[in-house]
Amino acid sequence: MGSRPPRVVAIGDGIVDLVTPPMEDFAPGDVQAEVPRFDPLPGGNATNFALQMSSLGASTTFIGAVGSDSNAKLLRDRYREYGVRARLRIDPSRPTGSTMALTWSTGRRALVTNPGANARLRLSDVPLRAIRGAHHVHRSGFWWTSGLVGKPTATLLARARRLGATTSLDVSTDPQGWPADRIQAVRICLPHVDVFFGNETEICAVAGDKSPIRAGKRLRSLGAGEVVIHQGERGATLITPSGVVRSPAFDVAIDNPTGCGDVFNAAYAYAKLARPSVGESLRFANAAAALHLRDRRRPYPTRGEVRRFLRRFAPP
Ligand SMILES: Nc1ncnc2c1ncn2[C@@H]1O[C@H](COP(=O)(O)OP(=O)(O)OP(=O)(O)O)[C@@H](O)[C@H]1O
Ligand SMILES: [Mg+2]
Repeated sequence: MGSRPPRVVAIGDGIVDLVTPPMEDFAPGDVQAEVPRFDPLPGGNATNFALQMSSLGASTTFIGAVGSDSNAKLLRDRYREYGVRARLRIDPSRPTGSTMALTWSTGRRALVTNPGANARLRLSDVPLRAIRGAHHVHRSGFWWTSGLVGKPTATLLARARRLGATTSLDVSTDPQGWPADRIQAVRICLPHVDVFFGNETEICAVAGDKSPIRAGKRLRSLGAGEVVIHQGERGATLITPSGVVRSPAFDVAIDNPTGCGDVFNAAYAYAKLARPSVGESLRFANAAAALHLRDRRRPYPTRGEVRRFLRRFAPP
């Protein structure tokens, strides 16, 4: 691809997160707490992925659905600010998706989401011309974009591949707790996925195995090219046809625990497009996620910031 920036398309959820500053832990039971403010931040897995991808230097398109309210404006402003091309289906009858995100200084979070307009996104909103020429197509915000769950996602990832792109998928936590039909809706996508991302709980749930490494291998046997397991403060593990590669996390203060996985995914996919070694891609992604985690005022680090951060650390 030479020195031209890679072209990447992210398909999925557009959500505004209302995030509390990190709070001290609550006692169990009814609680009344005070915070100095709520920070309205762009969120949604695919939105975070797109903003991070563009911040790293990729020419990035986001495809999703919003309402016609002030949260839609907030998202549009952020896409514009970060140079992301947004192809948005607009449903004026529904609110833009939003999440109440309670965060604690321990890193614990409680997220409550109203998917709103995201539920209206359809396969017809992803025409071939929108993905033609892309080097990479990423799909996330899987459950909130309920019109694309299962077969439509498999179809669009297969189309992306036929058009020459690599593909990735992160389904995140199932808000319905992984009933069998929802696991199957993920599994039918796997043969069309080059990189499947998830945390240990998600990988184990989709594979039906309690060991994360065995689960990752099982997902490969079900069709995923490689599997990347997010492991929080322990970093990440990659399962490829040639083996298992581990990469430790960077030790940073926790200021912004929402969206680390998406930032990680974008940085990993970006690094992989430039084809460094798998170990370097994991390290680059852990570093980008650490920068996101430690400062909510700069949630999407640039390529230069990630490289400078990596230079300051001896190889971990
Ligand atoms: N406490 C931490 N310290 C350092 N890095 C972290 C920490 N937590 C997360 N990370 C980084 O962020 C990446 C993704 O975070 P995590 O493992 O929490 O994924 P996730 O559960 O999929 O998160 P998300 O809900 O954001 O999708 C990790 O692989 C790691 O690189
Ligand atoms: Mg995740």
